[in-house]
Amino acid sequence: MKFFVITDVLIHFRDENLLVSNTRSREHVTLCSVGIEALSRLYLGATKEEWMESLVNAEGSDATETSFGEKGLHTDPSFIDLSLKNEIYSGEKLFELLFKRHILVKDYDEYFDFFNPRRSIFDFEKMGNFHEKVGDYLIKKREEKKWEWWHNQKFSKDGKEVTNLFYKTVQEKFIRDYLKKNFDLKTKNVLDFGCGNGYFSNIIRESGAEVLGVDNNQSLIDIARKNYSLADLSFVFCEDTNSVINLMSKTNDNKFDYIIMQDVLSLILDHNIIKNGVSFEIDRLLESIFSNLKPNGLFVCVDPNPIFWLALRLGSKKHPISIVTEYRHKKFNTTPNQYEVVNALSKYGLGLVSWEHPRSDRETDNDFWNNCYAIWDFMIFRKYA
Ligand SMILES: C[S@@+](CC[C@H](N)C(=O)[O-])C[C@H]1O[C@@H](n2cnc3c(N)ncnc32)[C@H](O)[C@@H]1O
Repeated sequence: MKFFVITDVLIHFRDENLLVSNTRSREHVTLCSVGIEALSRLYLGATKEEWMESLVNAEGSDATETSFGEKGLHTDPSFIDLSLKNEIYSGEKLFELLFKRHILVKDYDEYFDFFNPRRSIFDFEKMGNFHEKVGDYLIKKREEKKWEWWHNQKFSKDGKEVTNLFYKTVQEKFIRDYLKKNFDLKTKNVLDFGCGNGYFSNIIRESGAEVLGVDNNQSLIDIARKNYSLADLSFVFCEDTNSVINLMSKTNDNKFDYIIMQDVLSLILDHNIIKNGVSFEIDRLLESIFSNLKPNGLFVCVDPNPIFWLALRLGSKKHPISIVTEYRHKKFNTTPNQYEVVNALSKYGLGLVSWEHPRSDRETDNDFWNNCYAIWDFMIFRKYA
């Protein structure tokens, strides 16, 4: 039986390593020049014994990131892991690694079958598509403690610091700079709807505003209250639409100068809801919130744009490294497009006055992220008098 180098394989330099990658499965092995020489000599096919003999003096290690990790959809989609902790192999073990990582293959049909969707959860022969992989790891993880998963990928556990690189270099930096440059928030009333742990409500307060944070998650409101016990910053837990309506009816009419929702509106305005007309329940919620915005008041909306849902995964057999997936299909698109948001909000007397696309200003040690398009849109709406 012969093993050959599959045509999907690419050899390239990466951080001073020679990296052999399967572009279809996004599996990677670092290999020294002796190993590369063996691949170039035997690529059309050799027995296991011949490979082992050629790899005796070679060195290689696994460079494949196997888990989606805590970052979920934000994971580096190259799945390259160049950490030094990976064990170095040679000879038979290196051969097995190259086979396991689909650099060496013994049968075309078997190889391509590996990329078909799993037949069941017990089918471990297949790689599994993006959904299945996410399902394996993240869904279980997120289901355990939903809000904690979200919170801890963005903030330190105590909620006092933003630890995630992009939330920090794009979201936090943009908000801080923008508020300073464009708004005079002194003595203004601001509603931070969906305030989470209050970290961003406090940033707005630091600009001189009096801020009310509202959220329907009691645990996050508890963190907010613990971290910020301040006269001009208060937090209210609103379990459902009725409690928001009650709270809003207690505030004077047209109370807020600004309303902010960061990573919230897309959770409320789901794509299907928009398509079929904003539902009665959501309409009631938004009506009560926006009727408390003063005439000429501003609604600041920070939301992932639809490219967020262009989640990266393996493409089809025909387009193995494509990033264009079924997420492009509206059926799977859970965030509304910007024009859908603009149309939906016009019902509450809001008109779009500014639309920016924040970018990270910081170089990271990761090429992918340096060239990555940030996912958020920053939109400002004015309430017409
Ligand atoms: C992705 S988090 C963003 C939190 C915060 N704005 C930030 O940027 O850190 C979304 C927040 O919206 C809250 N939320 C979602 N739907 C809500 C609703 N109908 N009423 C109140 N809060 C809501 C969630 O509990 C969560 O804290």
